[in-house]
Amino acid sequence: TIVRISDDSLAKACGADAVARAFERAGATVERVSSWGMHWLEPLVEVDGQGFGPATVDDVAAILDGSSQLGIGTIADHPFIAGQQRLTFARAGKTRPLSLEDYEATGGWAGLERARSIGPERILEEVTQSGLRGRGGAGFPAGIKWQTVAKAAGPEKYIVCNADEGDSGTFADRMLMEGDPFALIEGMAIAGLAVGASQGYVYLRSEYPDAIAKLHEAIGLSADIVAPFALEVRVGAGAYVCGEETSLLNSLEGKRGEVRAKPPLPAIEGAFGKPTVVNNVLTLAAIPHILSEGGAALYESLGIERSKGTMPVQLAGNIRYGGLYETAFGITLGELVNDIGGGTASGRPVKAVQVGGPLGAYIHSNQFDLPFDYEAFTAAEGLIGHGGITVFDDTADMGAMARFAFEFCAAESCGKCTPCRIGAVRGAEIVDRILAGGREPDRLELAPQMHNAVKSTRNQAEQIELLEDLCEVMRDGSLCALGGFTPFPVMSALKHWPEDFGIEALETA
Ligand code: NAI
Ligand code: SF4
Repeated sequence: TIVRISDDSLAKACGADAVARAFERAGATVERVSSWGMHWLEPLVEVDGQGFGPATVDDVAAILDGSSQLGIGTIADHPFIAGQQRLTFARAGKTRPLSLEDYEATGGWAGLERARSIGPERILEEVTQSGLRGRGGAGFPAGIKWQTVAKAAGPEKYIVCNADEGDSGTFADRMLMEGDPFALIEGMAIAGLAVGASQGYVYLRSEYPDAIAKLHEAIGLSADIVAPFALEVRVGAGAYVCGEETSLLNSLEGKRGEVRAKPPLPAIEGAFGKPTVVNNVLTLAAIPHILSEGGAALYESLGIERSKGTMPVQLAGNIRYGGLYETAFGITLGELVNDIGGGTASGRPVKAVQVGGPLGAYIHSNQFDLPFDYEAFTAAEGLIGHGGITVFDDTADMGAMARFAFEFCAAESCGKCTPCRIGAVRGAEIVDRILAGGREPDRLELAPQMHNAVKSTRNQAEQIELLEDLCEVMRDGSLCALGGFTPFPVMSALKHWPEDFGIEALETA
């Protein structure tokens, strides 16, 4: 019997290694494959296409003799899988991550082959035509970025993959690198061809040891296939701000991970001062499909408005069916959270959903008809970001969450600009005063010279005005998105759940 079990780090954290060993002891042949992305079922065991999960060592005998009660039927037909449009994650659950044989058998390298035959100009045209936008969060058109690098002067150029994935509730980059590393490598090699770069770097954090190991191995195995394009892995220490592209470049070069002012854009002066494509894992991994026969047209036909193709949405937090859900843009937040995600894991009502990581807005369930689309989210004062959705039930305290946003910003700030470095600390203090009914909270320790300034603004309304003012300064005056986006979670929490701040409603000017 062939038994397939994922070796993705989430599955391993749930006990997949022990289950795999138990199957081997029972005489079965175990194949370690990528994860299907149904996290609540991990470790998920597949025997002849049938799924069993979440499995423990004690379930092994019953799964093998057909008496197990954990069966979920044919995995590929499970509603969570059958409802998806998987392009970037087409191989998820199906292939052995480091098997070149599996990769080739599932269309691997077809994109690179075709890219080689059509040449740089047509590659740029097709990537632009596909409508692919940066999946790291900002949604900048990938084709235009590549064109800027292609046109930039100089013989040396680089492709940098931003795999830092610091957003809370996101794991798609990690799953892709652990589950289908050749797809990322192929995408980077195509990018290299398009812009004239022969060296690529994958930058990721030390907290992703499995992804690092898989990438090293995959790079070695495919070196001849992608040559003369060469790849290197660079590992950072896990500062959130190192996911910001210029800070990432500093860290990659061995410098302190501090944000650089733009311009110059990395497309003109990036890694080691040379023109550089910096793209997220999911952007680059979408490329092979776009380049293989007819991919660009298909990609363009999916999605809505200016959000084209598919987005690997990550369902996390207090959610019943958490995992990876790749689908065309346009699906509503309500469908994702309630219909697909099954509501909260706790069974309590959904109170808030944070989309786009710790800097994303908290969205109220009365906005659940919001379609997944870059512009629609921007119009609703939110962001899609990297596609992470974190669900909270009605026990969440949104006042505390607003304070947490400032604390997070203060802890992760690179310190380069004043609105973020100082603003985050002052912001947490203001939230404390609001939560204390406009009074000075006991635990707040202030320098003597601050007392008068603070005493004069001690009533609730004034504190809220001060908070709004501070958020405006941070939004408009910060050098990068860390300081610039911290107001999103703060102001959305205050706007939708004023009762959690001890006020009746937010009066906005
Ligand atoms: P941005 O809007 O400044 O830039 C987007 C990208 O387009 C950059 O790579 C920039 O260099 C490039 N670009 C802009 N104009 C260009 C031009 N004319 N030619 C060529 N390239 C051009 O946004 P930024 O600051 O890079 O990213 C902010 C986003 O990062 C936020 O939306 C947030 O969602 C996301 N983010 C993602 C995280 C993750 O874990 N994936 C973590 C934190 C934030
Ligand atoms: Fe650094 Fe914060 Fe300014 Fe970004 S906003 S440059 S993280 S201090």
